[in-house]
This record gives sequence, C-alpha cells and structure tokens, in this order.
Amino acid sequence: MCGIVAYIGPKDASPFLLEGLQRLEYRGYDSAGLAVVAPATRTAPARLKVCKVKGRVADLAAAVPARFKGGTGIGHTRWATHGVPSDANAHPHTDNEDRIAVVHNGIVENADELRAKLTADGAVFRSETDTEVLAHLIAAHRTDDGELEDAVRAALKLVVGTYGIAVLDAEQPDRIVVARNGSPIVLGIGEKEMFAASDVSALVRYTRQVVHLEDGELATVRADGFRTFTEDARTVTRQPSTVDWEIGSYDTGGYAHYLLKEIHEQPGAVERTLSGRLDERFATAHLGGLNLDARELREIRRVKILGCGSAYYAGEMGAQLIEELARIPAHSEPASEFRYRNPVIEADTLYVAVSQSGETYDTLAAVQEVKRKGGRVLGVVNTVGSAIARECDGGIYLHAGPEISVASTKAFTSTVVAFALLALHFGRIHDLSPADGRRIVSALKALPDQIREILEQDAEIARLAAAYADSQGMMFIGRVRGYPVAREGAQKLKEISYVHAEAYPASELKHGPLALISPELPTVAMVPDDELLDKNLTALGEIKAREGRVLAVAHRPVGPRLADHCLVVPKSEPELDPLLLNIPLQLFAYHAAVALGRDVDKPRNLAKSVTVE
Ligand code: F6R
Repeated sequence: MCGIVAYIGPKDASPFLLEGLQRLEYRGYDSAGLAVVAPATRTAPARLKVCKVKGRVADLAAAVPARFKGGTGIGHTRWATHGVPSDANAHPHTDNEDRIAVVHNGIVENADELRAKLTADGAVFRSETDTEVLAHLIAAHRTDDGELEDAVRAALKLVVGTYGIAVLDAEQPDRIVVARNGSPIVLGIGEKEMFAASDVSALVRYTRQVVHLEDGELATVRADGFRTFTEDARTVTRQPSTVDWEIGSYDTGGYAHYLLKEIHEQPGAVERTLSGRLDERFATAHLGGLNLDARELREIRRVKILGCGSAYYAGEMGAQLIEELARIPAHSEPASEFRYRNPVIEADTLYVAVSQSGETYDTLAAVQEVKRKGGRVLGVVNTVGSAIARECDGGIYLHAGPEISVASTKAFTSTVVAFALLALHFGRIHDLSPADGRRIVSALKALPDQIREILEQDAEIARLAAAYADSQGMMFIGRVRGYPVAREGAQKLKEISYVHAEAYPASELKHGPLALISPELPTVAMVPDDELLDKNLTALGEIKAREGRVLAVAHRPVGPRLADHCLVVPKSEPELDPLLLNIPLQLFAYHAAVALGRDVDKPRNLAKSVTVE
C-alpha cells in the first residue's frame, strides 16, 4: 500500500527518494512521484519541482529531468483509493501557487466536504484525490510570516480520517513537516541529514537510528535534527531506537524473488521465535511480554483471535493449539468482520490480535474496539514498535525478520510457533502434564531442521507445481487440524498465481463440493498420520472415484490408487503437524506462480500492509 519517503540534507534528495521508493515497491502501488525544493538562484526564488507518473518507480526514475536538484524532498508510491491510477492522481499534490507539496498515506473521510469549501474559496483541483485537499487546506492556513508546522496543525484539525503525511513548503526549504494519525511515519537520524518514511525498510541503508511517531503527533524535520509535538503544539520528547534487523534482510540475497528467500529463511525465523522462550526444566514456555501472571491467566475462560487473511488462518491454527494443549475454548475470526458487528466483549476472554506488519487497519480498529469496551488484548506481531504492538496490553514479537514479499510465509510460520508457545504456557498453567509439555518442547526444538528437510524438496515441488499450474482451479482439503492448512494453502495459491483455489474441510466434500470434482479440478489433500488418517484416505477414494486428480501432502506415501502424486513431510507431534504440512504448499504456490509468469512478489491488486479500511 502507499509509501512515503522524505530527505533533508546537504545532498540531492532525489537519488535517496528514488531508492527509498524502490525499497517500498513491495508494499504494492500503481503510481509514483517526487517533489523537491529547488534552491533560490540569483534571479529566482526557491521553488517546488514535481515529477509524477502512473506506473513503476523505474518509470518515475526515467521521467525525472536531469535538472531536478534540491536537498529537501518528498516521494510517494500510490495505491489508488480516490480516483484511478493516473499521472494527475499520483502524489505529491500541490496547492494552486505550487508553494505546498504533500504526500499522504491513508484516507481523508471528509474530503468531499473540504473540497467543496476550498473550491468555493477559489481553489482549483487538478486531481480526484483526497490528498489534494490537504495541499489546498495547508496553503489556506499558511500566512506569509507564519511557520509551516502551524499551518499543518491548523489544517489537520479540520481533517477527519487517517493519515501519514510529509509536507514541503517552497518558502521554508529548511524543513519538512510530517504527521501521523493511523498511518505510520518513522524518522531516520543521519549525520547532518535526516530521513523520514512510512516504513523502516526505506531507511535502513542510511541509518539505524529511528523514531516512530505516535498517532496524533507531528514533527518538524531539519537537516540537523527534529522536533516532535502534538496537534496542540505541545513538544513531546521521543528517544531514538535502533533497528536491529540486518540490512541483508532487505535484499533478495541471490534468490529469484523475496518470496522464495523468505520461504527458505523459515528455519532461522522459527529459531528466533523460539529463542530464549523454551523452559525445559518446567516443560513450558517463557513469554516475558504477556504482562499477565499465572493467576490472571488462570482466570481466562476463552480466547478470541483476530487477524486478517493469512494472519486469520494462522490464528485458526493458534486456536486449535490453545484448545488442544490448554483445553480453553479458542476461536479465530477475521478482524475485518469483528470490528463491524458490535462484538460482545467479555471480561474473562483474552483477545489476541495477529499481524505481521502491525499496521493492518482492520486489525488495529478491532483492537481499539476491544480496548474501548474494556477488554484485554495481546498482540502477536512481527514489526517491533508498530501501531498494533503499541496498542496492545502485551504480546509476543515474532522476530521473524522483515517480510518484504506481499504474500506472507515466514511470518505465518512464526505466528503459529508463537501460538504454540502461548498454548504450551497456558496448558502448563492448566492441566497439560509435564510429560506432554516435554513432548511439545522437544517437538518445537526439532521444527527448524524438519523445515530444512522439507525445503530440500524444492525441485520436486517445482516440478509438480508446473504440472498442476494450468488447472482451471484447485480444491484444498483437510480435516480439523488440517483444515486451516488447506485454507492457507488455497489463499497462497490464489493470491500469487491467480489460479482459483477453494478450501474445504474434507468432511464437507459430500455435502456439496464433490459436485465440482473432475479431471480439470485437482485436489491438494492434507493427509497427516493422525487419528483421522483413515477418514482422510476415504475422502481421497471418493475423489479418485470421480476422476479427480489428487496431490497428497502426507506423512507416509499415499499410493497411486488414492493419489496421483504425494509429497511426504516429516512428522512432528500431531498438534504441530499443521505447521509443517503448510511449508510445501508455500513452495507449491510459489512455483505455480513462477510457471505462470506472475509478478510473484507483487501480485496484482494486493498490497503488503493494508493501512486503509
Ligand atoms: C497473505 C497476506 C495477507 C496478510 C493480511 C494481514 O499472504 O499476506 O492476507 O496476511 O493482509 O496482514 P498483517 O499480518 O500485516 O496484518
């Protein structure tokens, strides 16, 4: 989704801005643009230069004129919400005198009303966007002897909605003003130069020292420092923190795509999620960030997990783990639905929000709804210091490392591991025996090597994926623990290969979807070696009897009578098997997408973190 970058310092801004925008490409976008303040000359005052295009950052780089010089600049990648992708709708947007330039992530909800008023006052709009309203509004509050930050504060007081913005003023080129409300802004501190962006990945090549703005905060950023303040002009002190993710995490590291790299990074990601959290002596897990002691945990009667897309499916695996190990009723629900249905919030329910980015607006809004009603929320989040992490009462950081590819893989796996730790901790507070606790601890420790073993089948999975990729559509089936695996497998395939994929509980086949089975609609079936093995094999028999092709993901080879192909994965404990069964499905989706020539890391119409409703 939209990305913001900003630079102020002694160098030319545009090379940094273009590189920063390239780093944000993974978030998904349809147009890109830059603005710099060209310094005053002997004959002309300082003035804004703007270049923006529909298309990729590479198209923007090609369009930027050679004389696009200036040490103060802002850049943007836009993901259309108000108005089609076009040059005119791309950011930055300016006022009619080309004095103010604005880039904006988020949505101005009262844009129509503000636009009507500004038009009546003489503003001429040149785009269909809500962002242009901000440029005119700030210009309307800008007085000749006033400060840019005062005009921005006054304008934002009239705005209803969400924003992360960066603002330039041709007449005050010594500063950039940024503001945050519901859409992230992070400042980067350099040597006599400063940066800002919507995402640290745009900054890490230049600085590790960052400051995350809170909602309702603004900052004036100058080459030699920054000042943070509230909408009421009250100064707030923000201490910089150090980004600890490796710079290499932001490159493809020799892999063809970020997605493939991130799939292969999973053993390390799981090791980091587990690191320092397993307690072999008491056969439990230590989760320091929960901010709940054993007595408080014992009072919890129900767990409700909230997340969107793959985070929701990881939550389904988490709910299963919590019910099995702790025997506490647990349920996962799409956060995007929950927030709209006036949910009943119970005092003895623990709410758990799941988000890789920590910025998904629907999940954040669900957390805020629970908290507004007095509920307690934990976050299972990858991005340290993100909005959801900050909003929650406590939680578990995944430490999976940055996930760049739009489709979630390593964060998904680490989320399930985090839930296994939570379930173990909960279980050992309740009735999970020490022997069962030890069984889970050693199974968790074995996971990284078992994932490595699965990843070694990459070439074989690529061959199978190419053979199935041209199918009309695919069915994914699983039973109980296997059903969330099927759902996530179908999600991954459809989002990156655009092959229609549908997930069903294997037990439901006879109640409808069996009608779809034909040689054109193959089935990917989860066949773990657990108490439901015979029932799963029966379902395969039913599919084969209707000439359906079957790819089984199993613990033991399934013969040609029941499956055309079989991928054998190592066995964990039954509660953790879903996590391993999911890994080949990631590779399957990846290779199917490659075989079909898709833009694997940036699938069409999707964005990495969905910061709007
Ligand atoms: C699927 C995918 C999305 C995200 C969802 C939530 O591969 O990436 O479904 O899982 O948009 O994102 P986060 O976890 O950042 O809240």
